Formats: sequence, structure tokens, C-alpha cells
Amino acid sequence: ARKIIIDTDPGQDDAVAILLALASPELDVLGITCVAGNVPLPLTTRNARVICELAGRTDMKVFAGCERPLTRHLITAEHVHGKSGLDGTDLPDPAMPMAPGHAVDFLIDTLRAQTPGSVTLCALGPLTNLATAFQRAPDIASRVSEVVLMGGAYFEVGNITPAAEFNIHVDPEAAEIVFKSGVPLVVMPLDVTHKALTTRARVEAFRALGTPVGHAVAGWTDFFERFDMAKYGSEGAPLHDPCTVAYLLQPDLFSGRHINVEIETRGEFTAGMTVADWWRVTGRQPNAMFMGDLDAEGFFALLTERISRL
Ligand code: BDR
Ligand code: CA
Repeated sequence: ARKIIIDTDPGQDDAVAILLALASPELDVLGITCVAGNVPLPLTTRNARVICELAGRTDMKVFAGCERPLTRHLITAEHVHGKSGLDGTDLPDPAMPMAPGHAVDFLIDTLRAQTPGSVTLCALGPLTNLATAFQRAPDIASRVSEVVLMGGAYFEVGNITPAAEFNIHVDPEAAEIVFKSGVPLVVMPLDVTHKALTTRARVEAFRALGTPVGHAVAGWTDFFERFDMAKYGSEGAPLHDPCTVAYLLQPDLFSGRHINVEIETRGEFTAGMTVADWWRVTGRQPNAMFMGDLDAEGFFALLTERISRL
């Protein structure tokens, strides 16, 4: 199985991504590292454990990471995810403990201990933990297989500001470090995730599984959907983060371009914008596989089948 570490700020869509990974025998989740993002760190660490317990994985190592972006104040998204970050399904507070130590140390130690090129990082939130690890231990960059991340946008532009997507906007300095790290990057921007829409039928398919996990996923995607229906006027809300894990399982669901992507860190109105050279109009070196499209039917078929296994 492919070894992965999930870096996350759950988040309903983070929750679905984590469940998809835990349900998939092709993936060996070495640990879950939490970061501040959708909600502050005490809630993302709580929510990650709630999700593990729901999946029956009280053995999972869940680490607390960075409490705030590298240089900026934390921006959160309770307006999307609710006060808990995981509104929509009521689950008990977790009993499983946090793993001892800091998420950044876990990332560094694991990458140094494992065979070079054998560990994939799957990033579902602001990139603060990854950037801190790359800064503190530059030797690990060459040991990462690839970073598959949800973040950024090109044609779809922004969701937290007119120019920027949330994960990149919250910590543009961290994103810049990751995008300049030389590590192979696969990016799932809003261009892709705004095609992974949780329509009524897709939410009901989760509920129809008749399992506690199916009900939880239906509750979360339903909560998310009501919010985004109002915002985008589309049928269903984008289920962002699971696109990363689905890519690891079935890459042919996605298509994109290997291009140069720079992170705007200074713009007055555009901080956190992913300046993606989609039309290859610069001579800058490609640094990311920037996805542009997905097979939404195939994606939801995979997701529903895997969720049914839990
Ligand atoms: C991203 O921001 C968060 O709100 C979601 O969990 C996702 O990772 C989408 O912009
Ligand atoms: Ca997220």
C-alpha cells in the first residue's frame, strides 16, 4: 500500500477525504497532522479524532501542528463549516488521545525514517505544517514522493476573496515555500472541486448506505450543501478535499496541465492567489500538475463505494 500522511483542518470535506483514505486498502495512512484553518487548532485536533473514532480507527496517530500561519493572523471559516468546524452530524467528543509530539516533528522524522520517495503528503488545509517542516529540515524535500494538495484556483478564481482560495489565502507564505520546494506537486484547485458537487441524489446515496458512517457523511455534505447553494446558486456544494485522495486511488478521474504556479504573497487585493501559467505564456519552469477537470460521476461512484466499506 502507498504510504501517506494526511495534513488537515477538518472541516466536513476534510472528514470525507480522511474517511475515503481510511476505507481504501491501497493507502497506508501513517498519521494525521492537524493545522489551524477552517477552525482553530483545538477544534481541528478534536474533529480529526472524532472522524477516526467514527471509522473505528482509534489506533490512528493524530498530531497537533501549527496554531497559526507563518507570519499572519489566522483566518477561519466558521461561516462555511459551522462553529465546531464539523457541523451537520452530531458525534460524541473523542476519547482517543492525541499522539505525543508536534506534527512538524512527525513529518520530519517519518520522512527521514522511511525509504526516500515512499511517502506521499496529502494536504487538505493551509500549508503551514508542511512549510515549517521543509524550512526546518530542507533534506526532507527530496524524500517526499509527492504532495497532493487541495488549494488554489485559476478560472474559478477565489472563494474567500475575489482572487484567492481559502487554503492558500490563509497562509500564502507557507504555500510559497511548498510551491518553490521542488517537490512534485499535484494541485486540486477550485476549477476541479467546483465540479465535485454534492447534489441531492449524491447526498441521499450516502444516507441510503444505512450505516453510521453513511449517515454522518450525508449529514455533513447536506450541511455544506445548504450553505453553498446560497453562495453559488449551483445544485450541490463543492466537495473539495476528497479530490486529493481520489486522485491517489484513481488518477485517471482527473486531467490537468503540468505548469508553473506562483503564489502571490504581496498583492493588496490578491494575497494567496495562485498565478497559474495555464496558457504557458511565461518561460517559468513548471512546478505543479495543476488539475482542471474531473469525471464527477466516476468520483462519486468511487467515494460512495468506499464509504460503504466503513
Ligand atoms: C478549502 O477550504 C476549506 O474550507 C475546505 O476544507 C477546503 O480545504 C476549500 O477552499
Ligand atoms: Ca480543508
